[in-house]
Amino acid sequence: MHEIIQKLEQKRAAARLGGGAKRIETQHSKGKLSARERIELLFDAGSFEEWDMFVEHRCEDFGMGEQRIPGDGVVTGYGTINGRPMFVFSQDFTVFGGSLSESHAKKILKVMEKAVQVGAPVIGLNDSGGARIQEGVASLAGYADVFLQNVLASGVVPQISLVMGPCAGGAVYSPAMTDFIFMVKDSSYMFVTGPDVVKTVTHETVTQEQLGGAMTHAQKSGVADGAFENDVDALLQLRRLMDFLPLSNKEKPPVFASIDPPDRDDYSLDTLIPDNPNKPYDMKELILKVVDEGDFFEIGEHFAKNMIIGFARMEGTTVGIVANQPMVLAGCLDIDSSRKAARFVRFCDCFNIPIVTFVDVPGFLPGTNQEFNGIIKHGAKLLFAYAEATVPKVTVITRKAYGGAYDVMSSKHIRGDVNFAWPTAEIAVMGAKGAVEIIFRQDIGDPAKIAERTKEYESRFANPFRAANLGFIDDVIMPHGTRRRVCRSLAMLKTKDMKNPWKKHDNIPL
Ligand code: HXC
Repeated sequence: MHEIIQKLEQKRAAARLGGGAKRIETQHSKGKLSARERIELLFDAGSFEEWDMFVEHRCEDFGMGEQRIPGDGVVTGYGTINGRPMFVFSQDFTVFGGSLSESHAKKILKVMEKAVQVGAPVIGLNDSGGARIQEGVASLAGYADVFLQNVLASGVVPQISLVMGPCAGGAVYSPAMTDFIFMVKDSSYMFVTGPDVVKTVTHETVTQEQLGGAMTHAQKSGVADGAFENDVDALLQLRRLMDFLPLSNKEKPPVFASIDPPDRDDYSLDTLIPDNPNKPYDMKELILKVVDEGDFFEIGEHFAKNMIIGFARMEGTTVGIVANQPMVLAGCLDIDSSRKAARFVRFCDCFNIPIVTFVDVPGFLPGTNQEFNGIIKHGAKLLFAYAEATVPKVTVITRKAYGGAYDVMSSKHIRGDVNFAWPTAEIAVMGAKGAVEIIFRQDIGDPAKIAERTKEYESRFANPFRAANLGFIDDVIMPHGTRRRVCRSLAMLKTKDMKNPWKKHDNIPL
């Protein structure tokens, strides 16, 4: 008996070494942790239960029959983050470059399927050379099986990808179908075709980092929802993110004890809005002052900065924050910001997370670039997402809410539950000057007349009371009491029950 137990221990020790000490050292020399070290940091100490440690590939071609490494390049199983269960797969670059074989894919599928059955998130730590070249179509089939499972799990359990090494070719499409993608600076990259193919086809010369590094995707393409400094930073931030998320679509968002009083007033908010309506202010200041303990997990910080999205808590419960940022492009809606916010609103709605929206939007960004690239369809995504969402929706208009953008940003008309405005709000078809120059075009040559008309328009429409008269705004509130009013609204909405008409699925403009 003792001998058998010892043999098991030896087998386990061999499996834990993956591709061997030398390859682990190479991994470290690139500033990367090993697949197992990553899991250790991600999960609560001692909570990881590993599955399929002894699985090997079944390929005999190209000398693979003589090269079998237990685990076959991916460590899978489940553990806890702050006591809550989560599933993981962590690709092991030290074993055949973390490449995906038929067996490797089956291991990933096993955890994904179980995650859906028990209702727990799946975290993928990606570090892979792609399809196992020696296995040919069998590995492509493995990818397709994972893609399918990504789709089936979408909206059932949160799926998070952390790209911590190579992720190229068709392999990118598994992370692409998960809810959030995070990358690690200087050690990860994602692209459909690498620099060599790009050079041959388009004659462009780019490095891996320029083409698909963490900041490229966090800033330019918006493919990544965040770029972290290194593996340790990424894994610790991921732990923080998971604390905001429910385990599945059957759960309410988690509640963590908060020491921040829900009725806390913040008088500095009374002077946040500058006297000059064209002067920007930092919307993040408002968010940090309103949410519990100023704790805000921003998503997509570097992309479409005119829109801020992320998770926070009110009275200990997770909320999704969506806010226009007047500091960038005056907070207007454009293609990127609409897409960014639309996907986030849909994530929140999938997972029962109430949405708090702060509005200061002068309208849609004009221009041929926007029109030619389809702002009509992309703007419609955000409108569609807000309109179909049945989670509690609380909206606060701080300043501008002009034109179609007013309707889009969680207005009463698309089922905003509680809609507040600050006294500084201007809810109108457009800014006063623009409006007057259209309806009093004949007076354009007379600045005094135009100024007078502008004043008149401002006094009628550049305030929240016209909308409040019509019941489109439930109350005009003092800025300092925003936290109190939003907390009360969310508490009232806790039992909200709303269903959309039955359908197979909707047809959001893609
Ligand atoms: C089998 C692979 C592999 C792969 C790497 N390795 N990628 N083995 N299949 N796809 C092995 C290497 O042979 C090497 O083995 C070890 O992993 C480490 O690789 P290195 O090249 O030494 O590492 P590095 O210099 O860091 O380069 C990493 C890399 C490079 C850029 C990822 O390995 C690479 O270009 N690999 C091939 C990438 C690729 O073309 N994949 C297929 C993409 S198409 P030894 O024994 O020497 O240590 C695809 C389709 C998916 O993925 C389709 C889904 C629909």
